[in-house]
Formats: sequence, structure tokens, C-alpha cells
Amino acid sequence: MADRGVMPKERVSCAGLGAADTGRAVRLAGWVDALRDHGEVLFVHLRDVNGIVQVVFNPAHTPAPVCDLAAALRNEYCVEITGRVTLREVGTENPHIETGTIEVVAETLNILAKSKALPFQISEKAMVAGADARGAGTVGEDLRLQYRYLDLRRPGMQRNLIMRHRIVKRMRDYLDARGFVEVETPVLTKSTPEGARDYLVPSRVHRHCFYALPQSPQLFKQLLMVGGLERYFQIARCFRDEDLRPNRQPEFTQLDLEASFIDEEYIYEIIEGLMTEVCALGDITLSAPFARMTWQEAMDTTGSDHPDTRFGLRFVDATDIFAGTSYGIFRQVLEHGGRIKGINVKRESERLSKNVLQNEYAREIVPSFGARGMTWMRVTGGTLESNIVQFFSPGERDGILERFGAEDGDVIIMIADRSWQVLTSALGLLRLHLAGRLGLIPDGMYRPLWITDFPLFEVTERGLTSSHHPFTAPDREDFDPKDKDVLAGLRSRAYDLVMNGEELGGGSIRIHRAAVQRKLFDALGLTQDEVREKFGFFIHALEYGAPPHGGIALGIDRLVSMILGTPSIRDVIAFPKNRSAYCPLSEAPSAVSRTQLAELGLVESGSGKWVLGKKIM
Ligand code: AMO
Repeated sequence: MADRGVMPKERVSCAGLGAADTGRAVRLAGWVDALRDHGEVLFVHLRDVNGIVQVVFNPAHTPAPVCDLAAALRNEYCVEITGRVTLREVGTENPHIETGTIEVVAETLNILAKSKALPFQISEKAMVAGADARGAGTVGEDLRLQYRYLDLRRPGMQRNLIMRHRIVKRMRDYLDARGFVEVETPVLTKSTPEGARDYLVPSRVHRHCFYALPQSPQLFKQLLMVGGLERYFQIARCFRDEDLRPNRQPEFTQLDLEASFIDEEYIYEIIEGLMTEVCALGDITLSAPFARMTWQEAMDTTGSDHPDTRFGLRFVDATDIFAGTSYGIFRQVLEHGGRIKGINVKRESERLSKNVLQNEYAREIVPSFGARGMTWMRVTGGTLESNIVQFFSPGERDGILERFGAEDGDVIIMIADRSWQVLTSALGLLRLHLAGRLGLIPDGMYRPLWITDFPLFEVTERGLTSSHHPFTAPDREDFDPKDKDVLAGLRSRAYDLVMNGEELGGGSIRIHRAAVQRKLFDALGLTQDEVREKFGFFIHALEYGAPPHGGIALGIDRLVSMILGTPSIRDVIAFPKNRSAYCPLSEAPSAVSRTQLAELGLVESGSGKWVLGKKIM
């Protein structure tokens, strides 16, 4: 429809309009968020990326052909409208939208593109005061992902992506101001060990050879330090074929950085400054310096290497109290070198009834966490009360009261187990369960924490593996790589950044001398041939005057999700994979033609589609 009168050529945003614009002629473009038909008069919520404004098609002011055309409008039609801003009548203002004191009386309408009926509702804003603001609510996530382009039209999703952009931009500006240079590293590369499986890409040119997609830019960022860049960062896409969890994606993004001639304190300071700035974008106030905890303390007092420190419920060790106990279960555990640890749930005796403690926690919940059982006691009148305290000696009872700082109304829960891993893991899960159930986690609290002094190696059934990755510097270099006991006791110069029980980042000071790196590979049981084949180029580089260096990587998806408080990291990723590493939108991964496979030298030539070596079409 052609413009009438003096309608402006320039488009303005729906969101910017207010009472001060009354009488102004405007040109708007966007999507029909919602419609309300009042017989003759049609109200439309027009939405663009910035917000919503109400447009009125009123035969008293709008030309009749325009009103006729408007009658055909449906949700999510893409339209251009011109009209005049008017103040709404008193009592018809809409507090749900920022422009709710005005509306635009339409003069022209141009339907730019129609939309099919929607698979789910996009509109999040009610059109009248008092009505419930609407939202995508209970739409299944796979449907949202299949129609992600529609899901992204929801203001909430757009806000997430815009905030992600702001956070990443702030990171870039912050690091740029401190002399860091952004460098891209290869995506078609060689395997970097970060503990997951690699995604492999076959090479057409080099028959039967594969690139690996990077699990992180670890080796290349270290090579940049050997290359003398001194301060590097990258917003790096990483790929890991690992078991998916709610906070994991097969491809995800890191803020990866590395610096030369620095130590741990430098990394702490730079990251604390960065975290404080980016969290402030989400109105989260952090104060530096962040708390620190050794890995040992974290495990001993919370059973987790990424503890949530927003609440207490720290573990108390009671092993020595029962050294000479006649209580059978404890005695057997202690005879086998086990330990006894517990938690004092302060003043929760009323909410943790005998039934809850015995039938839910002792019978069901704690066994589901891997421990055989648990022992509970309440504190009443200065003494312990439960069905088992009769088996404890007076000294043991007093010992518990004192060690746990017990007061009336407290509930003490103890787990004994022969295995330290089982004990700490089960008690750790119980700690989180209790905190959730009892509502002990305060809203709006953010507790950043550095975890330090990790063991350099993890001892597994298949031998030693690196707790972080094999380029992490040990706390000392004079170890014998064949002495398993010494190796098991080594600590690393690694650090993890944890917030509210989520691991947001990890890094370390690196090994920068080739001989030490060789020794470490030796300790991991790699033969010289394996080292040459996997890391030859890297060790070689360390032989040319590599500077001392270290760095860290923050998981951007996790960090943004935490700052914005989204239920899942998928909500801050434009096109994520679902829980089975599948993209419902593009249907990746998908079968490929035999011709493609043949070109790559993976099968004999022929026709048809192939999956896992089987013809499917
Ligand atoms: P790390 O393996 O600890 O360290 O990874 C750093 C951070 O990346 C995030 N992260 C993930 N986020 C989403 N989905 C995943 N699958 C996923 N895996 C990891 C986490 C984690 O803390 N090269 C080293 C860093 C270094 O040493 O400098 C590394 O990648 O928030």
C-alpha cells in the first residue's frame, strides 16, 4: 500500500516510543506479536528486536482499504506500518509493555511476508492490563530447537543472545586493554587431550588420515607463547565427544587465554577483574579477591571439587571418636581402613522427622548415592536421640556433641564407609540434597571460589591419568616418573574457578621445559614412540627457549547462563544440540552419500546413503 501524506522514510524502533512522541508520524516494521479484534477496531502488538508497541486499525482514522487488509493479519506476519503516535485513553494503558502509555494509529500497512500457523506460541506479552503475561511455558525443548528461528523471536531468547554478545564484547575489551591479542587457532587439527573423545574429520587428500576437531586450543596457545606473543586470548569453539550433561554441549565456547612470565597470582587477578566486570553486566556484584580452597579441603568438607559455598553443611570427620567403638557397623568400617564423616543440619529437627530421616534418607536416598546407609541423631535436651545412640559409649556421645558443635534442634547425619571416594561422594550428594530440600541456598547469592592444589594425577584402574591435562606443571620436578606412590602424591599448579557449585573455568601454570614434559609423559606410561607420534611437534617447540607460561579457559556458555540465570546452557546458545547431541533443526548428524564416503576413501564407490557402513537408501 502506498504511503499517504507525509509519512517518514526512516524506520523507527517499536520500543523507543513514548508519551513525548505524541502526534509524531512513524514508520515501523516487525512481526505481529498478538492481535485483538474489537469488532470494527483491530489492535495489533507489533514487535521488533527492541520491544513492542500497540498499533490500532480504527476505521475512524485509518483508511478503509487499510482496515480491510489488516483483517487478514495473523500472528507472526512480517509487516511494515506507518501511522501516528497517540496517547492511550486513561484506563487503557498496558503496564506489560514499555510503550504501554501510547499506541500508533495506523495509516498504511504493508504485509512483507505471511506466516504459517505456528507450532508454538511466541508472544510473551499480554495485550491488556491485568492479564497474565504469557510465555513459551511448557513447549517441549525438541520442538523449540526444531523451530529455533521461531523460538529466537521470543524476546527472552533475544535478550539472552544480546547479553551474551555484551558479555563477550566486555571480555574482549577488558583483555585488549591489558595487552592481550586475540589469535585464531586451527579447527582442523591434531588431537589435544582434555579427557574426552575427539570428533574426527577424514581427509580426502591424505587417504585414511583424520583431522581432530580441537577439544581446546591448549597446544596452540602454548605454541603462541613459544612464538613470543606473551599475551593471547581467543573466543574459541571447542568440540568434545563426551557423555552429555545439562551443563555440557558437544561444541561449546571458551574464553581461552595464556600469558608468559607470569604466575598463579597473575591469573587470579586478571580473571577476578574480568569476572567482576562481566557479572556486573547482569547486576551481580562480586568482590575480589575471591575465596580459595585447596582440592583436599574441598573434598574433605564438601565431597566435591566444585563445591557450592552458598550454604554450610560442611563435613565433620568423626573417625577418631569411634577408634575403639563397639558399634558393629562403624567398627568393621574402621577395621578396613575406612572413615566416618557427618553433617550437622542445624536447627532442622522439626522439618526432618524420624520418618523422613529413616524411611527416605537412610533407606532410599543415601543408598541411591552409593553408600550402604547412614546414621542419624537428633539433639534434644543436650543429648543425642535415635535408635542407635544406645550402641555408643558415653565418651563417643560426648565426642559427637562436641565435634559437631551440637545444640538442641540439630540433626546429625553420619556415613561410614571403607572407601573414601564412596563416603565423600555420597555425603556430598546428601549435602546438596538437604540444601535443596530445606531451602538453604539463598537466592541472588554468588560465591566465586578458586580450587587449588589438585593432585597432578588421578589413579584409575588403567593406571595414571592427568587430573587436568598433561601440560600442567607439577608442584615439584624432582620426581621419579616410575615411582607410582610418589606420583600419586604430586600436586599440580592447576586452579579451577567455581561459582555456586558449577565449574566455570580451569587452567594451570604449564610445563615449559622439554625434559620435564618428557618425564611427565613417561609417568603417564606413554612410550617414546607414542610421545613422538602424538606430541612430537609440541615437545620439539619446547626445545627452543619456551618461556614460563600459564593460562586458563572459562566456559562462556556456563558463565553466561549463570549470569542470566537460565535453566540450561542451551538457552544462551543460538543453535545448540539437544541432550543426545542431535540438532533437531538441521537434523545433524545425518547420513551421507556413498559417493562422499568413497571420495574420502572410507568405502568403495557406488551409490546410496550409508550409516555405520550399512546402506540405508
Ligand atoms: P577445561 O577442560 O577445564 O580446560 O575447560 C574449561 C571450561 O570449559 C567449560 N567446559 C564446557 N562447557 C560446556 N560444555 C562442555 N562440554 C564443556 N567442557 C568444558 C567448563 C570448563 O571449566 N585447555 C584447558 C584450559 C587451560 O588449561 O587453560 C581446558 O580446556 O566451564
